[in-house]
Amino acid sequence: MAPKIVLVTGANKGIGLEIVRQIANKAGYHVLLGARDAERGQKAVETLSGLPVEFLSLDIDDDASIAAAVKTVESKFGRLDVLVNNAGVLLDAWDSKVQMATREIFQKTFNTNATSAAMVTEAFVPLLSKALTGKPNVVFMSSDMGSLGQFADPEGKWQDAPMHLAAYRSSKAAMNMLALVYVARFRGQGWRINIDNPGYTATDLNLGTGPGTLEDGARNAVRLATLEEDGVTATFSEKEGPLPW
Ligand SMILES: NC(=O)c1ccc[n+]([C@@H]2O[C@H](COP(=O)([O-])OP(=O)(O)OC[C@H]3O[C@@H](n4cnc5c(N)ncnc54)[C@H](OP(=O)(O)O)[C@@H]3O)[C@@H](O)[C@H]2O)c1
Repeated sequence: MAPKIVLVTGANKGIGLEIVRQIANKAGYHVLLGARDAERGQKAVETLSGLPVEFLSLDIDDDASIAAAVKTVESKFGRLDVLVNNAGVLLDAWDSKVQMATREIFQKTFNTNATSAAMVTEAFVPLLSKALTGKPNVVFMSSDMGSLGQFADPEGKWQDAPMHLAAYRSSKAAMNMLALVYVARFRGQGWRINIDNPGYTATDLNLGTGPGTLEDGARNAVRLATLEEDGVTATFSEKEGPLPW
């Protein structure tokens, strides 16, 4: 059987690169490592030599780049089986409990984390509809910082954190709703559309402050990206289990 074609956005480093590595190590997958910078993308692919991985040029903030990426995937493979919307930014100041994000930071953060994830998903819907099984997997890399239920609880996680990250949190809550819009749209058609929280993982996004390893950070996203046809849909989870919406 032909391998399933997987696209991971923003995969030249961090959790995205580790997701690529873990999926490519499984039998039956060919992974497209999405990156906006060709040199960084190619270098990342070189670190995975021997694995079924290739670079795909994709700046998720750029509609022309998205259209070109869709065209490339269409002409090479004619379909997409798995999409992992991983690319993301955190632009709030680290002392954001006292320093509220500016309009510019809100706009840039929402643009990449919510709007661009929507534009990429929408552009790939026709190719996802042609997935080998007819039932593609879509994963949204969100954050428990986007959990309304958790932050509404005065005893909940992150209440005592030194930062509020207003723009980042709000953009991830928006991303969760976006995922649910796709769930509603494809309900009853067998698509598995799920949301992952990788957990606080040491990457450039958080200046290396996260205690978690890349291996652990990628684990739940890989589980969701490689779910079989009878797998779950419409879930928000982390490796330890379900999260409150
Ligand atoms: N690390 C954590 O603790 C944590 C926790 C919860 C959720 N997450 C989420 O997990 C995902 C991965 O984060 P990470 O920690 O691995 O961050 P990271 O190391 O900073 O990696 C982010 C990746 O996104 C890419 N990217 C940003 N804007 C892009 C664009 N417009 N087009 C294409 N690629 C773009 C970056 O590319 P460049 O190298 O070109 O900038 C980079 O490859 C993010 O969605 C993040 O919000 C992370």
